Amino acid sequence: MTVSTADTKDSSQLGETSSQLLFYLNGSRVVIEKPDLDQTLLQYLRTTAGLTGTKLGCGEGGCGACTVMISRYDTVEQRIVHASVNACLCPLYTVDGKHVITVEGLGTAKNPHAVQQRIALLHGSQCGFCTPGFVMSLYTLLRNNPNPTEHDVEECFDGNLCRCTGYRPILDAAKTFAEQAWKAGTTVNADGTATVRAQGSDGAAGCGVDGCCQLDGAKKEDDGGCCGARGAGGGCCKQKKPGDADVDGADVNGADVNGADAETQSVIARFKKYDASSELIFPPFLIRYAKGTTALDGSEPQRRTLAIASDGSEAWCRQFFRPLTLDTLLALLAAHPGAKLVAGNSEVGVEMRLKRARFPVQIFVNDVAELQHVRESAAEVVFGANISLERFGRELAALVAAHGGERTQAFAALRDNLRFFAGRQIRNVATLAGNIATASPISDLNPVLMAAGAAVELAAAGGARRRVAMADMFTGYRRTAMRAGEVIVGVAVPFSRPGERMRAFKQAKRRDDDIAIVTCGLRVRVDAQGRVADAAFAFGGMAPTTVLARQAMAAATADGGAAWGDAAVLARLLDAVQAELRLDYGVPGGMAEYRAALAGSFMLKFWALTQADGAAPAAAGLHAGEMDDGLGAPHEGRALCRGRQAYASVRERAIVGKGVAHASALQQATGEARYVDDMPPTRGELHLALVPAAHAHARVLAIDAAPALALPGVVRVLTAADVPGENRWNIFEDEEVLPTTHVHYAGQPVALVVAETLRAAQAAALAVHVTYEALPAVLTVRDAVAQGALFAEERALRTGDAAAALAAAPHVLSGESYCGAQEHFYLETMGALAVPRGEADELDVFASTQNPTETQMVCAAALGVPASRVVCRVKRMGGGFGGKESRSVLLAAFAALAAHHTGRPVRAVLDRDDDMRTSGQRHPFLARWTVGFDAAGKLLALRMHVFSNGGFSHDLSVGVLERAVSHVDNCYRLGACEIVGRIARTNTQSNTAFRGFGGCQGMFLLESMLCEVADAVGRTPEQLRALNMYRAGDVTPFAQRLDDWNVPLLWQRLAESSQFAERRAAVDAYNAGSRHRKRGLCMLPTKFGISFGVKFLNQGMALVHVYTDGSVLVAHGGTEMGQGLHTKMTQVAAETLGVPLASVFISETATNTAANTSPTAASASSDLNGFAVHNACAVLAERLRPYRERMPDAPFAKVARTAYLDRVSLTAAGHYATPDIGFDWQRGTGQLYFYFTQGVAVAEVELDTLTGAHTTRRVDILMDVGKSLNKALDIGQIEGAFTQGQGWTTTEEFLYFPRGPLFTQGPGNYKIPSAMDIPRDFRVALLEGLPYEGLKTIYSSKGIGEPPLFLGASVFFALRDAVMAARRQEGVDAPLHIESPATPEILRMACVDQIVDRVAIPAAQKEGKVPNSRDINTIEVQGGISPEEARGYIITA
Ligand SMILES: Cc1cc2nc3c(=O)[nH]c(=O)nc-3n(C[C@H](O)[C@H](O)[C@H](O)COP(=O)(O)OP(=O)(O)OC[C@H]3O[C@@H](n4cnc5c(N)ncnc54)[C@H](O)[C@@H]3O)c2cc1C
Ligand code: FES
Ligand code: FES
Repeated sequence: MTVSTADTKDSSQLGETSSQLLFYLNGSRVVIEKPDLDQTLLQYLRTTAGLTGTKLGCGEGGCGACTVMISRYDTVEQRIVHASVNACLCPLYTVDGKHVITVEGLGTAKNPHAVQQRIALLHGSQCGFCTPGFVMSLYTLLRNNPNPTEHDVEECFDGNLCRCTGYRPILDAAKTFAEQAWKAGTTVNADGTATVRAQGSDGAAGCGVDGCCQLDGAKKEDDGGCCGARGAGGGCCKQKKPGDADVDGADVNGADVNGADAETQSVIARFKKYDASSELIFPPFLIRYAKGTTALDGSEPQRRTLAIASDGSEAWCRQFFRPLTLDTLLALLAAHPGAKLVAGNSEVGVEMRLKRARFPVQIFVNDVAELQHVRESAAEVVFGANISLERFGRELAALVAAHGGERTQAFAALRDNLRFFAGRQIRNVATLAGNIATASPISDLNPVLMAAGAAVELAAAGGARRRVAMADMFTGYRRTAMRAGEVIVGVAVPFSRPGERMRAFKQAKRRDDDIAIVTCGLRVRVDAQGRVADAAFAFGGMAPTTVLARQAMAAATADGGAAWGDAAVLARLLDAVQAELRLDYGVPGGMAEYRAALAGSFMLKFWALTQADGAAPAAAGLHAGEMDDGLGAPHEGRALCRGRQAYASVRERAIVGKGVAHASALQQATGEARYVDDMPPTRGELHLALVPAAHAHARVLAIDAAPALALPGVVRVLTAADVPGENRWNIFEDEEVLPTTHVHYAGQPVALVVAETLRAAQAAALAVHVTYEALPAVLTVRDAVAQGALFAEERALRTGDAAAALAAAPHVLSGESYCGAQEHFYLETMGALAVPRGEADELDVFASTQNPTETQMVCAAALGVPASRVVCRVKRMGGGFGGKESRSVLLAAFAALAAHHTGRPVRAVLDRDDDMRTSGQRHPFLARWTVGFDAAGKLLALRMHVFSNGGFSHDLSVGVLERAVSHVDNCYRLGACEIVGRIARTNTQSNTAFRGFGGCQGMFLLESMLCEVADAVGRTPEQLRALNMYRAGDVTPFAQRLDDWNVPLLWQRLAESSQFAERRAAVDAYNAGSRHRKRGLCMLPTKFGISFGVKFLNQGMALVHVYTDGSVLVAHGGTEMGQGLHTKMTQVAAETLGVPLASVFISETATNTAANTSPTAASASSDLNGFAVHNACAVLAERLRPYRERMPDAPFAKVARTAYLDRVSLTAAGHYATPDIGFDWQRGTGQLYFYFTQGVAVAEVELDTLTGAHTTRRVDILMDVGKSLNKALDIGQIEGAFTQGQGWTTTEEFLYFPRGPLFTQGPGNYKIPSAMDIPRDFRVALLEGLPYEGLKTIYSSKGIGEPPLFLGASVFFALRDAVMAARRQEGVDAPLHIESPATPEILRMACVDQIVDRVAIPAAQKEGKVPNSRDINTIEVQGGISPEEARGYIITA
């Protein structure tokens, strides 16, 4: 034990202290003397401990990739507590006395934990970057509760994001551990469609076999049961009970997941039994350590106050204390008045990372026992200030259960509110006091506490104590009534009085893990006569602080207290709320009208929900039953998610077509899979950071690197002058590697800093001083079009005489369609590691890229060396989605440059905000159209001008435009048409490829238009879709005949299997009876052309080696980004060679084994590389044929060895070039696409018209994927792409500040769908049984990566349908113009009603103001943004 090294003046007050951190890591004790005070647990794990299974996805608590389990002995609760925690926000110094378990602590690929195994084998891991986080969340749940319900399982992932899978397979795999799983299920019919199993009277669904003994009147077990022979082996569902270990997933989700075919059964047979008793134990020593009962004879360390000083002059935190008692804490605070208290670090950590706040003295308060107590008295409950929000929720639930509803109105409101507070990992560490002290105007808890009449207990050194009512706590923006030296010690919440009613409401962009737009706590007390005795209405998001709406409170009790049920009271309240909480159009945070509308809507909900008997709202034309809990979840929103996947288990081939799991799934689930940043450091390795441009458009006058070079650890600062070779890159060569004279978007890398550590590089990047001359900037596509800022290229398709047809059309409509940008949000950010070989300019570049060849070529050109000296190697990517097709190349070139200049390996891995600032997005598209049609809605003529926002350079924009223009027709005959496309040049990052590559934008633009035509003719969009649908043999505007045309068949089959007509009627009936909740339905088709638009890219290559032990190594030109390409290629190789799948291995994609590769893109990689692999293997098979014939029973190894001894080459290369294609855009001739992948989706949604929140109730997809190479992987691509499309058109809003910096820089303010956003009932089926005679692809399969993405827009159009129902109810029948994404704001404001009318801001008050500003809190969080900017407004691109 050491005495404090922190500060001698403290040691007398602190008693004996320690500077030693003691904790357990995966069962082993770790002792760190004087730990790095700035290090997070994640940094420690990944760099110091070398445990790279835990991933860095965002560094701000928003993605869950870094989830670990931390166990501790809670001395107050006197039990071991297991908590999932975001390691990225967890300071290392907080883990003293705890047990940290990472994904490596569970199992290995050879011996996985049951959780790892089931997620892997049931297809829950695609790119795998999120997988360790999901594993740890589920593992933590099981450690706390080995028998969770399905509901528990779904909820445990509310802090984890996955961008690949669409969550369904993760949920299904996880539910194999749940109690109720055995009751669920579907049956796969002979035609490949799925039906829900019939239910018995006890609700059991049976096992799916006709006559299951679980069903009434069915054969009973005693005569064999339904399961026949399976029953004997314990397979009868009747014999199995919830919780039976071997039932987990067996006849349960095995059947659910993949139709219980033989493949799945064999997977299930491999499931490990989950045995909670065999888990790593909590070290008994840590219990003694926590209790302070360790041996005092010096043989065991004691838990003491930690007092640690940092040595490094560049350290951010210089002094750190961890007190154990309140007295010590108060004494420390008195001695260090400027010290920062740190509790869960969920606010402080984000401030440090994104706002670059620095706190030299930090005091960790969560181990202070007095701040962890909960005291109950007759009148109130005082909650310890720093109890975690997780425990707060449990305590509240227990209070509600113990005291009943009448006395616990406030407790129940707080409990409900907490469910939508952040994700589980945050709630497990974040505290009550942390939320209050932060004083955020959109805090979730503060309004509820304020309305409840709660008070904060404060203490200071010397025994001073006082209480401050929550109503008096907030004195200004992020300021509280706390005095220097004061600490919050408790929060007193009173029991409700008789007649009190209380609710909390919150609306955010996304339901789970999102901060509020508006939040509130509303309370009334009603006397025995039903009159309002008093009221408290507190709102967040309506002012710079949490506020009480005092006018509204007065209105509630006016006239001596009117009856609460009186409709006049409601009208008075709405008037008062609107008057009092009215926002200026240009208010910080924006959304002025929406926020005001939410305040009114919440009041209306509260009024309706809190009527004693429901009579009053009915009298007012409202139904309490359609008012949700206001926390963003329509009442069915929390229905469990069910996935059903249907495909015939019949296969034509032994291996191809088999639904085998992703080849690396087990490595990914165990954390063994290596991504670029997981590679161990190479000797002498340096780190690289970017110097971002401060302006959207500027002349660079000077770059002063001297201040940066003076900082410790900085090795070089590189600018354009340091590019020895070609400084231009990109296919149009219109971009510089580093800018010479101008910058073209805010955030563009102006210079690079290379340093010994990442921290040093990032600090120095801030010190580089760049002088600019700011120039005018254009940011949006609309502005660019208005100003004529367009690239030269034009792409046009013309059929017939559009002008004449328009003139002759009976009806003509003109309008606009728009769809916004989308961030790829691959979980693994861009990364590259350049390693010089030290001779002959040789360089290895390990990169996270979809494009190894372009990476190699650009690196070589920038260095001025032959391409043969540079090898680009790609093991795998943690997602790509097009974002790493071209933009990744630049980062690799940066690393190569730095390695070239320093002669040392250089690692360049971007933080999430750097990645989002620089990587380019999906192109936003604007269309201006004039359409002619007849009275039935038959399209006769179309003229459409399409504009994309290309950003500052061409990148792939021309290809994206071509695909957009050639997909505008989607599945319809357009009549005479003229579709002309241009690319806007703006001062934003260069927009790039994104799954769908313009195709989905083109289809979206037309479908939007079609909906408006449907409105105009008074028919449904589905009627118009069917009416205008292509028939086989029709010719598209790009002159391609539709022969392999299956959309009409898909349409008809899905209409039947989804019962579209019946559900249309049901939706209409529901809407007729529901005023504030509307359902919407959409059936949407897609056809997606497969081929690269650039002809030469349509080629693939492979190199195959057979070794003499019978193992086979395949190299091909495609990269693995989670889509399962390598898995499919091993299947093709094994099938062609006639060897077991396990014999074939793909190690990596490298330019020295596969040269001149095409990017892995365009959904064509299986086609191109599959044939190349097949061709190579066919050569080898032919060479080996004589040996096989000679030794028919010999194992393959013997065959191979014998051939080798005969001097037969066991290596072959394969090449493939797609035949027939090649389209001439000038002449409009030739074949653009090799074939079309086709599909249809039906989506049903439910919309809360008061808030704009929605639930996707059900989605059915029927997809034509040809003869699938791997049906399970294809289903995974369909579900994942659909979910991305759903996000693109609903929650994902990409925003800039007006001067150009990007606003949406991380998961905090950019919302991809979470697990709770996916359809509650998600049914995916593959079209089976067609001969595909004309399909000349590898094994007649079809590309699948991109085509299903557009089907996600069916959710958008279903929401549009729901909005139309709401508008019709209000008598508004005009065509509805609605743009993507349909955020809650857009949806709610489109649902015109009396509240929307009340909040409308007159046009004169809007002039000159930008409306689309977003969330107050997150605006502040942007690092490097000026205060004026932070208060500014935001515009969409
Ligand atoms: C991903 C993410 C999601 C989030 N979602 C939400 C959300 O949905 N709703 C919401 O309201 N907030 C949200 N937050 C914000 C944050 O989690 C909460 O404000 C949380 O309650 C802060 O608690 P903490 O213990 O982590 O505070 P810390 O970050 O440790 O501290 C915050 C402030 O409280 C002070 N403090 C801590 N303890 C005391 C004490 N005893 N006395 C005096 N001052 C003290 C600290 O000095 C600091 O100023 C989110 C944050 C993240 C990172
Ligand atoms: S990396 Fe920690 S939550 Fe994203
Ligand atoms: S598998 Fe989840 S992010 Fe890729």
